Amino acid sequence: MRIPLVDLKKQYQGLKDEILAEIGEALEGMQLFLGKNVQAFESGFAKYCGTESAIGVGSGTDALHLALLACGIGPGDEVITVSNTFFATVEAIALVGARPIFIDIDPDTYNMDPSQLEEAFTSRTRAIIPVHLYGQPADMDPILELARAYKIKVIEDACQAHGAEYKGRRTGSLGDVGCFSFYFTKNLGAYGEAGMITTSDPEITRQCRLLRDHGQEPKYYHSTFGVNDRLDEIQAAILKVKLPHLDGWIENRRNIAQAYNAGLPESIAKPQEKAWAKHVYHLYVIRTPYRNELRAWLETKGIGTGMHYPIPIHLQEAWHNYGGANYSLPVTERVVGEILSLPMYPELSTEEVDYICDSVKEFTGAKVQLAVDD
Ligand SMILES: Cc1ncc(COP(=O)(O)O)c(C=O)c1O
Repeated sequence: MRIPLVDLKKQYQGLKDEILAEIGEALEGMQLFLGKNVQAFESGFAKYCGTESAIGVGSGTDALHLALLACGIGPGDEVITVSNTFFATVEAIALVGARPIFIDIDPDTYNMDPSQLEEAFTSRTRAIIPVHLYGQPADMDPILELARAYKIKVIEDACQAHGAEYKGRRTGSLGDVGCFSFYFTKNLGAYGEAGMITTSDPEITRQCRLLRDHGQEPKYYHSTFGVNDRLDEIQAAILKVKLPHLDGWIENRRNIAQAYNAGLPESIAKPQEKAWAKHVYHLYVIRTPYRNELRAWLETKGIGTGMHYPIPIHLQEAWHNYGGANYSLPVTERVVGEILSLPMYPELSTEEVDYICDSVKEFTGAKVQLAVDD
């Protein structure tokens, strides 16, 4: 059996006719500049997240970049985040000229540990970027409480957490701004690059709309320097078709996660969904000290796996070249050597999940046998 980490072909086959019809209509209309598909998808996504507005941009990285700019974050400012994330979270902070400050993560959720926040505050702190990694929201209440007390912004990196909930509220609506990626492998994925900013703050909305389009309003009247970061009309047409299916796909992912939880051996650390969370399992990440051996074993069984992410940002060459401070983040540094992402997509079958669990059991059984023989 061959099971990739992600398989997007099955989902496309189910939606193919509708998607091709929408793309065809967009091309026939040739309204390719912030047209009706972008507007429809923006309002649909804002409603889905529970925010006043949503601003379509070119990618999740662009969403983070523009959200920071719209919040007025720039040189001399500090932004607190985590090192255990995709590179773009930190890249966006560096791009606006601000300084990323790292705190460690909670070993259960792999998300920001809010108990370490206050110590990281300085007079230059202007924002916090919690990352809802793998599809589980960060513990937002203590983060929001501190942000309010210090009058600083909270920008959610929800790039992996479309539809995830914290105490019944959807990500993207929890902080001042939410940033989403529609990279093609995400729970809601385009067939190219796309992203979204969500907010209920009218001034942030206005700034993001201006900044994504060269700071112009109306056309050729530029009130500020911006960028070209508009959501593409064709991608919006595709995402508009997919959005109504998102909740069903999330339910499938949650069922698959349950099947994994029940089928994997006890010696494997499984994702821990907190009582306040609705995890949407963008990734199903396990932990074992034998990560590299298990990965190689699963490869021989035809099972694709991933590592999200093997090197934290504070240990990347770019961080060193940027002149970033030295950090000791013991939890982050420990888990990155142990995490392994197993195949996860809504169309994964029961037989496939069983096969994966059995293959992991074979591996852990052999490990136990080796230990006994020693
Ligand atoms: C946590 C996180 N932040 C930011 C991004 C950047 O999104 P994009 O690839 O759309 O630029 C991603 C996407 O991979 C991500 O997973």
